[in-house]
Amino acid sequence: MIWPRRQKLPSDLPLVKLEGFRVILRPPQLEDWSKWAKIRDKNRAFLEPLEPTWPENCLTRDFYERRYARQTKDRQQDRAYSFLILTKENKTIIGGVNINNICRGAAQYASLGYWLDQDEQGVGYMAESLRLAINYGFKDLKLHRFHAGCLADNQSSINLLLKLGFTEEGFAKKYVRINGQWQDHKLFGLPVEDWN
Ligand SMILES: CC(C)(COP(=O)(O)OP(=O)(O)OC[C@H]1O[C@@H](n2cnc3c(N)ncnc32)[C@H](O)[C@@H]1OP(=O)(O)O)[C@@H](O)C(=O)NCCC(=O)NCCS
Repeated sequence: MIWPRRQKLPSDLPLVKLEGFRVILRPPQLEDWSKWAKIRDKNRAFLEPLEPTWPENCLTRDFYERRYARQTKDRQQDRAYSFLILTKENKTIIGGVNINNICRGAAQYASLGYWLDQDEQGVGYMAESLRLAINYGFKDLKLHRFHAGCLADNQSSINLLLKLGFTEEGFAKKYVRINGQWQDHKLFGLPVEDWN
């Protein structure tokens, strides 16, 4: 068996665009900064308790440029793939999905991160977005498995993962530092064999 290997890809790779019925996923661009910062700022109180601590200047143009450079390098090195979610209808940024921590060799897995504008929740945008990202991961990146970890009380995220076919596989104590505290997480997994 020859496993897909991590390799440095050329920097002029065409940017991936994943199209669903109602959403488009594409990598962040430098021109997205002001719209991205606006929507992140609007959702700050909602997202901060669920994410790693927001650095003080994280919404500035300078910070965004450094973040963009890291995301580009990660994509070129097959380490992580970041996407913004836009509505197809009016091309508004409504959230993000990240395929993170790609592990090649005999593992071939990655973890999923995601967030959605609070005003756009409850209509299935994230379910559609994750289906696109997972399909891309399995078909194009040749991954074999996705992982996701949720705070035990993040019920909307847990519902979403179960709806997509993830299985609850375990519990990790003090797993990720969320909002300044090492916090316990429920762990979910989806091997390609369970994906249709
Ligand atoms: C987790 C999160 C993305 C879930 O958002 P969401 O809008 O509930 O997720 P979905 O897009 O799957 O929408 C599901 C809801 O839409 C409803 N829905 C309506 N139309 C639908 C459709 N066409 N397709 C699918 N679901 C639809 C579903 O019934 C469900 O509602 P319910 O929760 O009341 O049953 C969101 O709460 C979030 O951004 N949280 C903060 C960040 C976070 O927690 N990230 C994950 C860390 S582990």
